[in-house]
Amino acid sequence: MTEKIEDGVRGHYAGDGLMDRLVAALVEMGHDPDDPPAEAVSQLDQMHIRGAAATTELHDAMGIGPDDSVLDVGCGIGGPARALATRLGCPVTGLDLTPDFCACARELNYLLGVEDLVEIVEGSALDMPFDDESFDAVVTQHASMNIEDKAALYREIARVLEPGGRFGFYDIMQGPGGDVHYPAPWAVNPEISFLAEPDAVKALIEAAGLRQLKWEDVSEKGLAWMAEQKAAREAKAARGEADGPTGPSVLMRHGAAEKLRNIARNLHEGRIVTILGVFEKP
Ligand SMILES: C[S@@+](CC[C@H](N)C(=O)[O-])C[C@H]1O[C@@H](n2cnc3c(N)ncnc32)[C@H](O)[C@@H]1O
Repeated sequence: MTEKIEDGVRGHYAGDGLMDRLVAALVEMGHDPDDPPAEAVSQLDQMHIRGAAATTELHDAMGIGPDDSVLDVGCGIGGPARALATRLGCPVTGLDLTPDFCACARELNYLLGVEDLVEIVEGSALDMPFDDESFDAVVTQHASMNIEDKAALYREIARVLEPGGRFGFYDIMQGPGGDVHYPAPWAVNPEISFLAEPDAVKALIEAAGLRQLKWEDVSEKGLAWMAEQKAAREAKAARGEADGPTGPSVLMRHGAAEKLRNIARNLHEGRIVTILGVFEKP
């Protein structure tokens, strides 16, 4: 079953020509694609609600420092991993299932000169190719909704963490408002979508042996961010300016507008919630 789901996930996120589209987007934004500013790339490489600000918020909530070795599970094209390595100088390993994303993440690491700090490993979160107690911190953002066997996910995370290490996540979970509207950015139908309710997730993380330090429903921040984005787009349109490339429009080649409308609707209607959590391994 896991194999079938993981094939579905790879197919969903597959994106040949992704690097070419990112380069075209950087040119359209007015940057030299051979030497783009990191801030410009960070507008395109964060595949979660609230972009780079949410990434910084999570890493700060975990108290990650320059001497920590960090694993980012489901790292996508490496935006959060690069942001952390660049800001704090710590070594980050990004693990992801999707080959196209791993290839793109490595190219972006070279382009931004962080290839010595950020290593990208292709593999499954359910069978991580790492020894026990390999990392001081493990983070994950917006990847667990593609993972059915969450008990195995959190067991793997606890296994690779050092004693005293921290696990932090910023994830989409099932809200009280009912079934989600599809297509959504993480799945066009329920076949590769596995949202669990917050209490169930908390119980699974604790069952894996981790102890809760922080648990915050940050859905309201997501709604405020979406409203800001909408207002900015409308203001641009009123000035007669083009919308310009955005991360989602570049990364989700097909149906980005509908997927984005649905994620906003899902959050607004309480069908999904976003939770930031920090746990430690005793
Ligand atoms: C929405 S993207 C988020 C990427 C990144 N965390 C970010 O916030 O920019 C979800 C990512 O999770 C990865 N993923 C899903 N299931 C996975 C699994 N079982 N093992 C490893 N990666 C997985 C996908 O390949 C995809 O890159």
